[in-house]
Amino acid sequence: MLRALLIGPESEIVKDLKENLAGMPGLSVSQQVERYPDRVEMGILLRQLNPDAVLLNLADYQRACQLIGHLGALRPQVPVIAVHSFCDRQVLLELRHQGVRELWFPPFQVEQMQHAVQRLLQHKLAAAHHQAGAGTLIAFLPARGGCGATTVAVNTAAALARNKHAVLLADFDLHNSVIAFWLKLEPKYTLREAIERADRLEECIWRNLVESVRGVDILCTPPPGTPMVLSGGKTFAILEYARQNYQFALVDLPDTLFTSCWDVLENSKHIMLVVTPEMGSLHLARRKLDQLQNYGIPKSNIHLLLNRCSHLDIQPAEVAKFFGMPILAIFGNDYRAVNNSFKDAKFSSDGSKLGAQYTSFARYLAGEPDFKEAKAGVSKIRRIFSV
Ligand SMILES: Nc1ncnc2c1ncn2[C@@H]1O[C@H](COP(=O)(O)OP(=O)(O)OP(=O)(O)O)[C@@H](O)[C@H]1O
Ligand SMILES: [Mg+2]
Repeated sequence: MLRALLIGPESEIVKDLKENLAGMPGLSVSQQVERYPDRVEMGILLRQLNPDAVLLNLADYQRACQLIGHLGALRPQVPVIAVHSFCDRQVLLELRHQGVRELWFPPFQVEQMQHAVQRLLQHKLAAAHHQAGAGTLIAFLPARGGCGATTVAVNTAAALARNKHAVLLADFDLHNSVIAFWLKLEPKYTLREAIERADRLEECIWRNLVESVRGVDILCTPPPGTPMVLSGGKTFAILEYARQNYQFALVDLPDTLFTSCWDVLENSKHIMLVVTPEMGSLHLARRKLDQLQNYGIPKSNIHLLLNRCSHLDIQPAEVAKFFGMPILAIFGNDYRAVNNSFKDAKFSSDGSKLGAQYTSFARYLAGEPDFKEAKAGVSKIRRIFSV
């Protein structure tokens, strides 16, 4: 069954359409919104209702076209069926140009509409099949600058790669990126070129866009100030390519939430909010948590990582209580270990305590049993994943 979201003002045409759709097998109008939502509201509706298709009334043609643009950026895979009072060549051309393949108009041709529904249903099933094998997109977001989000993202990517997983680390910190510097990379091509080629990504192009470091593919940011036009549709295409070609795509985000960050956040399966055990960080993390939820991101997608934790600091149980949610993983405070590894352009080694914590976290993400926990029974490692 295709669950359709109907958008646009109620009118005689819409009433007529709904009557025609009432008995149609394969499609049901699950929700009707009698106005044209803006981009943020549309994002929330898409996440809440998760429609298989959008039926869009073109009564206010300009606003409807604007909305088609938002839908293309937010969920390009959700087909739009335009509904209009008439059909002419110009409208058809303009809709096609925006990626809309269906236009329904009175008198409604039920048989043709039925064929279109069948076609869309087949696409839905094919997409679901494709999706089943796709990788996991995980965003790393610092509660505030310097919490250690990049450090955790880089070392988790390395630990996943050590365990033979195909991993991409995508640097989306366009202003204060350190990953290439830490790993002594001088990438010829970066996110900028990935965006330019977003519509035609394939293996031979992608290979040139990423740097490979000890099993981790890294998509670097261009030097600061490089002109670059990021759009939701292009970001989505890059993330989708990553999901289809890696088991894990880890995206490192900056502290400030730019539009490009929202494009990543709304497509991520998990958002790792990295926080340190100090009052300022906890306060700003709670603010970010609210910000994410107000945007419509479900709390269940957001996880807390407690970084730079020592027995001298606010304890994990208190932090969990403060947020009213569990802490997914805890990482110790070892400035020297982190700095030394990056001084040599390396990742934290499995041998160090901190390195072992990244490994355990990576194993958890991969759904693998934690070998140390199994050996030691209720050990310290268990505390990495529960409070
Ligand atoms: N577990 C740790 N123990 C000690 N120092 C750490 C730890 N994790 C990160 N650091 C240090 O904290 C500093 C900030 O780390 P990082 O750049 O990863 O933070 P961030 O949250 O990504 O910051 P930004 O907002 O700049 O993106 C770095 O100097 C790093 O070496
Ligand atoms: Mg960072």
